[in-house]
Amino acid sequence: MKAAILGGTGVYSIEGISTVDENVETEYGLVTVKKGTGKWKDLYFISRHGLDHTIPPHKINYRANIRALTLLGIERVFAIYAVGSITDIVPPGRFGLVSQFIDVTQGRINTFYEGGKSGLKHTPMDEPYCADLRLKILTAAKKRGFPLADSGTYICTNGPRFETPAEIKMYKMFGADYVGMTGATETALAREAGIHLAAVSYSINWAAGIKDDLEFISDKEIEETKNKLTEIALEVLFDKPGACQCNAE
Ligand code: HPA
Repeated sequence: MKAAILGGTGVYSIEGISTVDENVETEYGLVTVKKGTGKWKDLYFISRHGLDHTIPPHKINYRANIRALTLLGIERVFAIYAVGSITDIVPPGRFGLVSQFIDVTQGRINTFYEGGKSGLKHTPMDEPYCADLRLKILTAAKKRGFPLADSGTYICTNGPRFETPAEIKMYKMFGADYVGMTGATETALAREAGIHLAAVSYSINWAAGIKDDLEFISDKEIEETKNKLTEIALEVLFDKPGACQCNAE
């Protein structure tokens, strides 16, 4: 089985794993993935904003990234998202398993099924994140005494600008727990592709208007977070598969 880690802000490599770059040609464009070596040869890594964080959320080639995973035969994905906290289910510096998303992006192509030659399919989104991987992550986190909220709703804005306090107030009324700019697009495409994806959010700030300050977590803390998360990812990604709805038609 092959697996991948999809990383975002502050997550540009995997601690302790040497990688080689591999270029994957897709019908949506070229994707450079990092592939593990030796013991980790079946592990891949994509940095969604590019290795030097130059691709803004609305310009990420989501379809190429997800198609590259499919072409490489990758079945499982551990996705990591930096978010801003709306409720205190995941306050800054903490983590949560994402259980639902709300998509308020505009103008992004967020499907592989555009009609015509690409076909038309309405993929169920009742369970957007892989239940099996979620359970495995929760168990691995518990075992380590690692605090991880077991559910939460991610609202995906278009960015790259941050939200206004009025928008955040509205998103809170929608039922969102935290806000990011990439998660819904990526998850929807992965589900369409039948990939088992679980997502962990880590909060780096209070969303606009929630607290007086828009203070961000330091790079050092982000680095420590990343290392704990990747340790859990490596444990769960190659574990024996259990039941989930990821391939429901
Ligand atoms: N808003 C949107 N995306 C984010 C935020 C935020 O406050 N923090 C991290 N990603």
